[in-house]
Amino acid sequence: MQIFHHIASLRDALKKERMAGKRIGFVPTMGNLHDAHIQLIERARETNDIVVCSIFVNGLQFGLNEDWDKYPRTFENDCQRLRDASCDYLFHPDDIEMYPNGMDTQTRVICPTMTDVLCGASRPGHFEGVTTVVTKLFNIVQPDEAVFGLKDYQQLAVIRRMVEDLCMPVQITAGEIHREADGLAMSSRNGFITDEERPRVSQLNKSLNWVADQIVSGRRDFEVLEAEARQQIEEAGFKVDYFTISDSKTLEAAAVDDSELTILGAMFTSGARLIDNVSVVLN
Ligand code: PAJ
Repeated sequence: MQIFHHIASLRDALKKERMAGKRIGFVPTMGNLHDAHIQLIERARETNDIVVCSIFVNGLQFGLNEDWDKYPRTFENDCQRLRDASCDYLFHPDDIEMYPNGMDTQTRVICPTMTDVLCGASRPGHFEGVTTVVTKLFNIVQPDEAVFGLKDYQQLAVIRRMVEDLCMPVQITAGEIHREADGLAMSSRNGFITDEERPRVSQLNKSLNWVADQIVSGRRDFEVLEAEARQQIEEAGFKVDYFTISDSKTLEAAAVDDSELTILGAMFTSGARLIDNVSVVLN
């Protein structure tokens, strides 16, 4: 695996691959790689000749009181995992390479309606940071295909919309959610869950599945279902950030006749904010 810290040298290398007719797959990450990230690399490998991964803890998508400084940085380990997964190129820029004019970058990509809700409501500016950095990464890598995990469902939906709206020539592919045995979605933030909390945190996933089952069996009283699920999570000892049944594409509150629904939830543990979602397609 070749490692690049600079845009110009990565561009040179990828230009040669492109000219040789190679199809380029891309998996953007913030590092601290776990099995879920590796699964995305493997997914990119299936349909591309060259797989590029980026590791960049993007300050622009973290709020002032968020965990940018304590976000786990495990570069040597990450490199080993990527080598084992036969990743071809790793892009690992520093802040100056990505934001040469500083973090108050003037040009930003915004996708307002879809980012004012759910995670965007409690993390103002977060998605603007994501769409801006992903646009920059797409401009640098110019991938044919980029793979994003369904775990960050709103992120995936916003990126799909951005690519459509801005006619970006990138195919966006969704990677399945990778979970621990009890249903907890893998996340770099799971390291902040205490031993005492650990047996109870799968309640978020249990409640999402419970609501999905209720919908499949015919219930359409969405607000009541949301309230019941919130209560289940609170009874397990966690503060709920949001728990919402949404239209899978627009992320607006679901209408009773919607056929593609996604149930999204976020809750706080003592040291982390965990998110998860489950989608339902009705006939
Ligand atoms: P990061 O949190 O490192 O996640 C990188 C990719 O891994 C994302 O597409 C995310 O959805 C996916 N992922 C994480 N946990 C997953 C799980 N349990 N199952 C499936 N996929 C999972 O998301 C980001 O980084 C950043 O916002 C980024 C897109 C890199 C922009 O900075």
